[in-house]
Amino acid sequence: MTKLWGGRFEKHPEQWVDEFAASIGFDQSLAVVDITGSLAHAKMLYKCKILTSEEYSVIESGLLVLKKRAENQELIFKTEYEDIHLNIEKLLIEEIGPIGGKLHTARSRNDQVATDLHLHVKKQTLSVISHITSLQTTLLKLAKQHVETIVPGYTHLQRAQPVSFAHHVMAYFWMLKRDKERFTDSLKRTDISPLGAGALAGTTFPIDRKMTQDELGFSDLYPNSLDAVSDRDFAIEFCSNASLLMMHLSRFCEELILWSSQEFQFVEISDSYSTGSSMMPQKKNPDMAELIRGKSGRVYGSLMHLLTIMKGLPLAYNKDMQEDKEPVFDTIETITGCLSIFNGMMKEITINTGKMKEAVNKDYSNATELADYLAKKGMPFREAHEITGKVVFSCIQKGIYLLDVPIEEYKAYSPLFEEDVYHDLLPETAAGKRNSEGGTGFDAVRDQLKLAEETLLEL
Ligand code: ARG
Repeated sequence: MTKLWGGRFEKHPEQWVDEFAASIGFDQSLAVVDITGSLAHAKMLYKCKILTSEEYSVIESGLLVLKKRAENQELIFKTEYEDIHLNIEKLLIEEIGPIGGKLHTARSRNDQVATDLHLHVKKQTLSVISHITSLQTTLLKLAKQHVETIVPGYTHLQRAQPVSFAHHVMAYFWMLKRDKERFTDSLKRTDISPLGAGALAGTTFPIDRKMTQDELGFSDLYPNSLDAVSDRDFAIEFCSNASLLMMHLSRFCEELILWSSQEFQFVEISDSYSTGSSMMPQKKNPDMAELIRGKSGRVYGSLMHLLTIMKGLPLAYNKDMQEDKEPVFDTIETITGCLSIFNGMMKEITINTGKMKEAVNKDYSNATELADYLAKKGMPFREAHEITGKVVFSCIQKGIYLLDVPIEEYKAYSPLFEEDVYHDLLPETAAGKRNSEGGTGFDAVRDQLKLAEETLLEL
């Protein structure tokens, strides 16, 4: 098999060595962007008079034929040709003859592969952003239906204060907003053209890098050819943003798993997003939520994978960098899948408002209200906290709740207590009246929902 780079070699690696070096097994998914990059490069070569118009039209039509076949997944690649770039070049030469060999003038696989990855990550970043927006839309819709649904709020996984269920759901909406901002920001550094950097040092051919930049829709170009071919920051940023996104989805999944347990029964995940047990007939397992939680591991792994590949590399291109693709591709597939599944699961989830209400009626999460009641009447909060602690302690011993304590008993703790204390102790007051900005009070939550709606239109 003749290698496209075979001139200075006396003998060639054996097949198993070739297989070790090859990336075609995975970089073939860059086929379409690779040809797109070649089309832009060929056009520039022609405009800069490096190719004649006849040469360009033959190369262009050959590339267009290959592009169509690539889109239809009809191209057949060979391990002997190592990677997608050499495979396409070989196919082009087969298609149009030796003139196809002119395409690689003033270009190296090093700036070519960087260009392909930039184009791919850019496209996928935009798609991830729109997936996040769809999920936010679903969460906002769910939240709107549950402004006045009260659920226990936790710290340390201990009942803390009752909150609006909408408020809880919206916490994730804002995490997703930050995720989207991060992807939007890293897009700026992805949207840069390395093409024309050559192998590492540029070229003596009179190329026009701005032309290929514009042709490929990049908003800028790398000002340094060494940096252009050896930068993978944008891929690392993508995986880093993806890791934070997965951390958020994983936390939400953890809550859904807890909430759908027999112990909580706050939600029921639809049958379409659950699975059964092969042995225990009663089981309905939240497998999708567990898988999303679990898949955060592989995304974090990809981030570490890329950081580790890059950490000791001297300038400029090194073959180590061929190892960058699989973690990036895997991350794209994983987060896109997780976002779609999570979105579908949330669209079909059943919220057991009754169970949530039952929970807040049978706990001490309104204790802060009792302390605040006394503090509002002038008692120093520390003192009010101490008295409330004593009331709670005595209730626990008697097996009753704060709303069950008779007024005479309250008065014995402090003469500041009056009948209106029972109103303050209601979960509807405790959750519904915390209207400080960003609080769980129903009015504050309604303001939050309005803000969220505006935010969705922005990005
Ligand atoms: N398959 C290679 C990669 O993915 C393409 C660039 C190879 N360049 C080279 N000089 N060996 O990184």
